[in-house]
Amino acid sequence: MDDLNYTTLLEGIAAGMLATADKGRVADYIPELASVDPEQFGIALALADGRCFAAGHADTPFSIQSVSKVFTLALALGRLGDRLWQRVGREPSGLPFNSILQLEHEGGIPRNPFINAGALVVTDAILAGHQPREVLGEILRFVRAAADDENIHIDESVARSETDHGHRNMALAHFLAAHGNFVNSPDLTCGTYFHQCAIEMTARQLALAGRFLVGGPAAPSLISRHSVRRINALMLTCGHYDGSGDFAYRVGLPGKSGVGGGILVIAPGRASIAVWSPGLNPHGNSALGTLAVEHLARATGWSIF
Ligand code: DON
Repeated sequence: MDDLNYTTLLEGIAAGMLATADKGRVADYIPELASVDPEQFGIALALADGRCFAAGHADTPFSIQSVSKVFTLALALGRLGDRLWQRVGREPSGLPFNSILQLEHEGGIPRNPFINAGALVVTDAILAGHQPREVLGEILRFVRAAADDENIHIDESVARSETDHGHRNMALAHFLAAHGNFVNSPDLTCGTYFHQCAIEMTARQLALAGRFLVGGPAAPSLISRHSVRRINALMLTCGHYDGSGDFAYRVGLPGKSGVGGGILVIAPGRASIAVWSPGLNPHGNSALGTLAVEHLARATGWSIF
């Protein structure tokens, strides 16, 4: 597809999404996110070589929330390698992102690194004795290098809002600690996790940042090829929690969603795509974002199946 066709495709998708009546429901359990206008949709597509196409509200910053778990997983795999899998599994959970149910039966080992319990273990592993400020600096450096953009920051008011309402994540952290699967104090790891989730990016920045997961000679090489394949596999099977099967069925590409309404989608060997629309479907994933990448995968034939 040539450059003009990418632009036409994305503009057509954005126009269709903005005209869709049912835009889903904005997350309200983090008060700071509840005030975001649901009438917004942005999409960006970055090719491995850095050419980027965008439409709609692609330059409006949003809270990346759980999409940050992809970046912390990349850092943890780089630092710990396979030792990480002693503390967290690699299976879909079939339960909502913040569920505590399986932890009790499964010895405090979360099913995968993308549900909250698993992501807390990943953040706990990279924190390991360091100061939260240092680790957040490292996460931001990684994201900025991946996006080739220094203008990426943490929204302190979102982090504070989640801290004030973070009882469930604190409960998960204490439960993990009770099972001996936590190195730092729950306060310290949760504080770091709330801040990584509060990173603000635009769809354009996120699409550019995702190129390290595209693979191939033109993509930035920030982690090993081995890790690229493994993170993509986890995004496909676990990236949308109990909606992962539906996303794979409809889109056929690895993706990671966040309750801020962003989704990072990887078309292996081809492109990194970011969509953002704050209204969520019943699984807590962007309603229009999912619909949009479903259209895009059909139009490009990029499904991996
Ligand atoms: O831990 C939380 O509740 C949020 N900071 C992130 C959750 C999230 O984005 C779930 N994804 N759809």
